[in-house]
Amino acid sequence: MVLLVLLTACVCSAARIPQLNQRPIIGVLAQHVLPFDHNAPGSYYIAASYIKFLESAGARVVPIRVTHTEEEFAKIFSSINGLLLPGGDVDIQNSQHTRAAKILYNLALKANDDHDHFPIWGTCQGFQQLSVLTANKNLLTLTDTKGVVLPLTFTPDASSSRLFRNFPEDLMDSLAEENITSNFHSWSLSLQNFSQNAKLKKFYKVLSTNTDGKKDFISTMEAYNYPFYAVQWHPEKTPFEWVDKPGMVHSPSAVRASFYTASFFVSEAMKSRHSFSSPAEEEQALIYNFSPIFKGSNAIFVQIYYF
Ligand SMILES: *[C@@H]1O[C@H](CO)[C@@H](O)[C@H](O)[C@H]1NC(C)=O
Ligand SMILES: *[C@@H]1O[C@H](CO)[C@@H](O)[C@H](O)[C@H]1NC(C)=O
Repeated sequence: MVLLVLLTACVCSAARIPQLNQRPIIGVLAQHVLPFDHNAPGSYYIAASYIKFLESAGARVVPIRVTHTEEEFAKIFSSINGLLLPGGDVDIQNSQHTRAAKILYNLALKANDDHDHFPIWGTCQGFQQLSVLTANKNLLTLTDTKGVVLPLTFTPDASSSRLFRNFPEDLMDSLAEENITSNFHSWSLSLQNFSQNAKLKKFYKVLSTNTDGKKDFISTMEAYNYPFYAVQWHPEKTPFEWVDKPGMVHSPSAVRASFYTASFFVSEAMKSRHSFSSPAEEEQALIYNFSPIFKGSNAIFVQIYYF
């Protein structure tokens, strides 16, 4: 009798805990090579720091080219467990990159509405892109935030947020008190424009803000009803980029913050069951088919993948 009760209890709790996908694969959207990157051996690139950031937390990566047809994007979407929109320098309203981001974002909205968990992470330009996709409007404003390290000003919602609630308390203190988030952006989503836009306000919960001394802007946000996360700062630079210039930080707490951030996003990807239709197809798509190129110790990206 006791055994039966125990057995039933076990079966029930097992049923309630969804099985995690411990082999998550995350897509990273490539972008057109930067104008100053002469002799680039390809037309599209991804900074290797984004790849390492995800790999460090237990994910594998598939680069996503921006030139696919909608059908091809749908196939890729059904094969990957999450999407990372990196920082960069594309036109976030009218470019191939934005077209690609929009198609994948819409697929993710629909999947999540259908209880098919699919997370999106936006860093810097990726943050800005998500704001434009959600608002269907560019509400960004120029700020003096290129090459500064800042502490996060957490909102009261931060400690209960999905993103931050499992961060160790001392790490939250470091993030709030030390200058450990790298900012390399000219454009920002001001708190003012966010608050005046009903679509954004309804969609995203603000987790942290910062200021350039004149304008308050949003530095971290997560969607209320979707596993979408956006940071205006660069968690991937701290452990993986080495250019010696203002805005860079390599302190132990900064490196730790980077890892917890990556680990959180990868844990979200582990809730996705998407998979490639065959091992051969998966193998062909993985970033391991490409080798990053060493750009020099003082390059803006120390290693870059080209496609
Ligand atoms: C609000 O957004 C508009 C673009 O729609 C932009 O021109 C303006 O600078 C922004 N203002 C602030 C305070 O962010
Ligand atoms: C953070 O940076 C600001 C300005 O860049 C500086 O005034 C402040 O002292 C720094 N704080 C710490 C804890 O280093």
